Amino acid sequence: MEDDIQEEVMSEFRERRLGGWHLLQLTAGTGLALYAVWAGLLMPGFRRVPLRLQVPYLPASKAQVSNVMTLLKGRSGAIADLGSGDGRIVLEACQRGFSPAVGYELNPWLVRLARFHSWRAGHQQSVSYRREDLWKARKTSLLTLALTPSVELSLLQKKLLAELPEDALVVTGRFPFPDWTACSVQGEGVDRAWAYHMQELRKQHFKNEALSS
Ligand SMILES: C[S@@+](CC[C@H](N)C(=O)[O-])C[C@H]1O[C@@H](n2cnc3c(N)ncnc32)[C@H](O)[C@@H]1O
Repeated sequence: MEDDIQEEVMSEFRERRLGGWHLLQLTAGTGLALYAVWAGLLMPGFRRVPLRLQVPYLPASKAQVSNVMTLLKGRSGAIADLGSGDGRIVLEACQRGFSPAVGYELNPWLVRLARFHSWRAGHQQSVSYRREDLWKARKTSLLTLALTPSVELSLLQKKLLAELPEDALVVTGRFPFPDWTACSVQGEGVDRAWAYHMQELRKQHFKNEALSS
């Protein structure tokens, strides 16, 4: 008896076709759920930042962190990671003696996670994470950041050229700056990292300007 009822329900279900209205509801529902996850968990705090100035969250791999650290060898002092995510680069830099080590991150969940990681590692006094827009961050002589082509990199180049001190070293992960020549490159594929020396970049920049005028 129970089997008959089950079979009846199943066959009714099989015969039912999804109409246009149902499909529309399903698509809208899925879209809304995805947006809620994106806006609520992954990108909160970004409402005032234009899309072209947002770097999506993609944590650095162990190899990438190590490549960034290799490029920083021989340097010391203050360091800032622009878009610090869960704080892995800042924490590693702090463990290697860079101080103060500061991360700028707009996503409050990632800021909390980064603080938790630094507390667990016993470094909560030596690192700090600021919930601030990386485009407004106070620049130091050592900067690390992960780039993506979706961000307006030419705008970022202009800003860094105008604001960074002469001795600054900028280390990028995943993607290089399109118009700059790196002074050093470390690693392969998606784990590659590039270092840019501000003094050399400025020299090159002024030379190019002089040639084009
Ligand atoms: C590619 S992830 C890199 C995370 C970390 N540096 C790492 O290498 O693991 C970029 C991070 O930048 C943050 N971000 C994007 N745009 C930002 C902005 N305008 N100001 C501050 N943080 C931003 C994102 O939330 C994300 O966590």
